[in-house]
Amino acid sequence: MGTRYYYITTPIYYVNSVPHIGTALTTIVADACARYRKQRGQAVYFLTGTDENAPKVHQVAQQQGKPTQQFVDEMAEVFARTWQALHIEYDVFIRTTEARHRKVVSEVFRRLRAQGDIYEGRYAGWYCISCETFFAESKVGAERTCPDCGKPLEWRDEPCYFFRLSRYTEPLREYILSHPNFILPEVRRNETLGFMAEGLQDVAVSRSGTEWGIPVPDDPHGAVIYVWFDALLNYLTATDWLERGDAYLEIWPPNLQLMGKDILPRFHATIWPAMLMALGLPLPETLYGHGWWIVNKQKMSKSLGNVYQPLEVAQELSQASGCALPYAIDAFRYFMLREMPTDSDAEFSLEGFETRYNGDLANDLGNLVHRTLSMWHRYFEGRLPDGVHVDEGLAALFQQQVARVAEAYEAVDFPQGLREAWEIIAAINRYYDEQAPWSLAKAGNMERAAQVLYGGLEAVRLMSALIAPAMPKVAEEIARQLNLPGVPQWDATSQIGALPAGHTLQPPQPIFPRLGKKGG
Ligand code: MSP
Repeated sequence: MGTRYYYITTPIYYVNSVPHIGTALTTIVADACARYRKQRGQAVYFLTGTDENAPKVHQVAQQQGKPTQQFVDEMAEVFARTWQALHIEYDVFIRTTEARHRKVVSEVFRRLRAQGDIYEGRYAGWYCISCETFFAESKVGAERTCPDCGKPLEWRDEPCYFFRLSRYTEPLREYILSHPNFILPEVRRNETLGFMAEGLQDVAVSRSGTEWGIPVPDDPHGAVIYVWFDALLNYLTATDWLERGDAYLEIWPPNLQLMGKDILPRFHATIWPAMLMALGLPLPETLYGHGWWIVNKQKMSKSLGNVYQPLEVAQELSQASGCALPYAIDAFRYFMLREMPTDSDAEFSLEGFETRYNGDLANDLGNLVHRTLSMWHRYFEGRLPDGVHVDEGLAALFQQQVARVAEAYEAVDFPQGLREAWEIIAAINRYYDEQAPWSLAKAGNMERAAQVLYGGLEAVRLMSALIAPAMPKVAEEIARQLNLPGVPQWDATSQIGALPAGHTLQPPQPIFPRLGKKGG
């Protein structure tokens, strides 16, 4: 076998609405994980894409008076372009209307039906078209509204195919219990075990009355395959499982599947692994379910008018502060990761974003880079003299912080990783205050001034590496100002004092201009 890839996925997004800060969160977290792995020299295969076969997608296309295929083509383009604009470096953008995906889904359906894991029955119950889910009479109350989203339900009574999920309750429970990293964070693992407590029920995996979707193979009633059964298989399609013999094992199984908490217990942590068990395929290493962004303590929704779009948020910051757009986009990525909801939900607000921008980016990071390079130019013409090295205590702190950042990034804990990285900035601010390199230079003690500023410069070099998963363009700009050929690889962070005597620095250029006070 050739290269073994680190395989990382986001969910595929429904195309009936535009990308917002919720979908951007999952995608940015995935991109940061992918970039971190690449910085460590790992081969990465990063998959994202769009979920296009849902009846609700078809419904919205019809409301807009567009042929559904045209609508999904346009929307897939909107998603791909938004992710590119947000500096998402995916390897493959998969779409569930692709022929190769339809082929995989039909084949899996056939195989599971042939081995008795899919069987024919009849479904009578209340159906939510928005959630694509059937609900038992006991769950819907007198109003007949969806227990999940509150929308009105419709009664359906139809022949249906079922996936024998119940058969996998015990094997799955055992798997979860014996693989502590299979479902993260811990709260999600517990939620899943709770969800499974009374045993999993067989799921209806076909739908009647819609022509949009992947047809159930050889079905006399013209049913289509349930969109979740179809969508989950995208992760397998992307490896060319049917086409490449054993070569798909260079990619499969996924190392990290990221998603929001809403689609973990019921779909990714139960139906999905059960489907893989039924197919005899290895299970993903880790399923990670983050919390949700809420706005003013409420779920974002079109009707409440509180849906934020990532590019608009970044553009507004850029206009208000004068920060170049690529760095404003990175600032948005930073905010998503620094305040990322992990276990519970988190508030998103423009004020919160602006506070982080002014505090962490303009005052802390931007200022560290700018004042360090300015002093190098003012006192040393931007050139490192002979004999400089980093003070011992500072070097030890750098090493400790780099290790802590790596540990947190590996656990998908970006808030913690970025906090640890910012400790380096705080340490240098204290160090400058104590050592006062400006006074040393004024007093003519150039040797010690260079020594102190060399510590600061190392901090800048390390920060360029440590922030790169979160803010790739800012990291590149810092590396450029340091006159480095590119952002340091992760290995280069273990070598403290890497910039040699004689190295010259570019003139400093501000990256994050401060936002003025409101109305000022
Ligand atoms: N199409 C399905 C996924 C199929 S994967 C085989 C889907 N799509 S979605 O577009 O509705 O949601 C995609 C992701 O965005 C989910 O992980 C969901 O949790 C996340 N978010 C949507 N709104 C969110 C917030 N407000 N906050 C954080 N993440 C949220 O589900």
